Amino acid sequence: MIYMLDTANIEAIAMAVDLYPLAGVTTNPSIIAKENRPLREILLDIREVIGSERMLHAQVMGKDAEVMLEEAKALRGIDHDIIVKVPVTPQGLKAMKLIAAEGIRITATAILTPQQALMAAVAGAEFLAPYVNRLDNICSNGVQVASEMVHLINTYQLDAKVLAASFKNVQQVHEVTLAGAHSVTIAPDVFDQLLVHPLTESGVAGFVNDWEAIYGHDKTVL
Ligand code: E4P
Repeated sequence: MIYMLDTANIEAIAMAVDLYPLAGVTTNPSIIAKENRPLREILLDIREVIGSERMLHAQVMGKDAEVMLEEAKALRGIDHDIIVKVPVTPQGLKAMKLIAAEGIRITATAILTPQQALMAAVAGAEFLAPYVNRLDNICSNGVQVASEMVHLINTYQLDAKVLAASFKNVQQVHEVTLAGAHSVTIAPDVFDQLLVHPLTESGVAGFVNDWEAIYGHDKTVL
């Protein structure tokens, strides 16, 4: 399982890098706009915090494929290892072919159907990001879409990976992982919730009480 954090907030990224087995950070234009400072600054700051070994995803904004290609090159100019997010519009699909030909890694984004995902994978996208919660919000089934994407990747033996996105709760994350999604990108608040269970907290508190009653306050096994 590849875990990524869906935010551009530097404090949240630093904390997650410190605590969790994080493989990368994903952003989108709304996430970037929340930070209200230049994109270049934000991407450079994130790279500094995550180091060279983790992935960083940033999205193009152009409407035409040729503009998206230029944006992809410009993003690579900011961060050589950037993974460029491209929406699965017809122009986006054209852009994916052009961007892939430049050797730039691609995440196909704004995926709402398995067929969008399949075509993006054939066009050269490495990651395919279905919007799970946005589908659930319209009484569709985000997990089902992610699951069918996994099935298509396996059926056609494609190199692409499902990067399930847009989560509002842990149950959605749990279900896409059961469905075999290769990776997930999760906002910090939901990410933190993945580890929360009251019996874990009370269990650890019980160990501390029993141990400290005999060995003393703040004693470790050292
Ligand atoms: C990731 O590719 C998406 O940009 C993101 O997860 C969307 O999440 P949201 O539906 O919470 O905005």
